[in-house]
Amino acid sequence: MKKHIVLLPGDGIGTEVIQSAKDVLEAVSAEFDHSFTFETHDIGGCAVDMHGTPLPESTITACKQADAVLLGAVGGPKWDGLPSHLRPEKGLLGIRKALNLFANLRPVKAFPKLLHASPLKESVVSGSDLLIVRELIGGLYFGTPSERSSDGQSVVDTLAYTKDEIVQIVDKAFQSATLRKGHLTSVDKANVLESSKFWREIVEEKRTQYPEVTVEHMLVDAAAMKLVTNPDAFDVIVTENMFGDILSDEASVLTGSLGMLPSASINEAGVGLYEPVHGSAPDIAGKGIANPLATILSAALMLRHSFQMDDEAQLIETAVQSVLDDGYHTADLQIENGQKVGTKEITDLIVELIKSKSATISILNCYV
Ligand code: IPM
Ligand code: MN
Repeated sequence: MKKHIVLLPGDGIGTEVIQSAKDVLEAVSAEFDHSFTFETHDIGGCAVDMHGTPLPESTITACKQADAVLLGAVGGPKWDGLPSHLRPEKGLLGIRKALNLFANLRPVKAFPKLLHASPLKESVVSGSDLLIVRELIGGLYFGTPSERSSDGQSVVDTLAYTKDEIVQIVDKAFQSATLRKGHLTSVDKANVLESSKFWREIVEEKRTQYPEVTVEHMLVDAAAMKLVTNPDAFDVIVTENMFGDILSDEASVLTGSLGMLPSASINEAGVGLYEPVHGSAPDIAGKGIANPLATILSAALMLRHSFQMDDEAQLIETAVQSVLDDGYHTADLQIENGQKVGTKEITDLIVELIKSKSATISILNCYV
């Protein structure tokens, strides 16, 4: 299959982790006789430096023409003082909006070798396997400019949704639940927010179309607690943009490191954008020690969701698991009696496994 992929490395460790994911994709392409072509564009702080804007038109155009987009990370102290329209994060929010990527899928799965690295008890973390479906282009992040203001004395951010916007994300979450264990937890703050009451009503309406899915409503504060006390209680979580942002960082402790969490941002038809959940880690940028696994796992999600290449995706996921099982890890991870390696070394190990196809397909099919 021929596929054209736009790479948006962004800032900090973005360049290094995107290079790793590209190496892995090239190995997959050779192994399965695909033809992947790549084109790199600027986003975030580096785009501000080069083009005077965090999201150049040329980047948007290229992404719209691509089959899929793989993004590293944006931001860093260098751009902290800029006015808000020039902040690197605006580039990320802008490209999500421009591509209408309303559904952000964040799978969280504990890797056996990393269980002990979690600050939580092994008995709590063991076996946790959940998917956060975060609404990505509305809610508290996207109040209209007139609603989002500060006059020096007061300030307003708006949490607004249309019915259609909620229906489409809730529907996506129900679909995901049917592909997994069939349990959906809708997370809101319906004891306080009107938007949450409306959200609950829509979930109730939708559930009649999915009788095989069990549904639970949970307040966001209770969900935050349950995530770290009883993560097994969750299969699929669906929630508003900001709640999803916070809960997904919290959920990352289940995996032992934020460096392990991939994500897929998709819409019903067009191009998808894939990115690690972690940030640009400017303190370790350029040192060759960044953990590329979340980006490599994001590339696997790309193969599965945008290209329908399930075997290829599973091969990558299994190779990542094998490398950890063999005790190899980057500096952010800890494995007892393991061997600490750099970004390039861990990538090469994964590439080798893919080339030999010795990573048997089938262990991990959790990233749906
Ligand atoms: C994420 C990030 C972004 C977000 C930031 C960088 C704007 O934290 O992808 O979770 O809040 O969505
Ligand atoms: Mn976040």
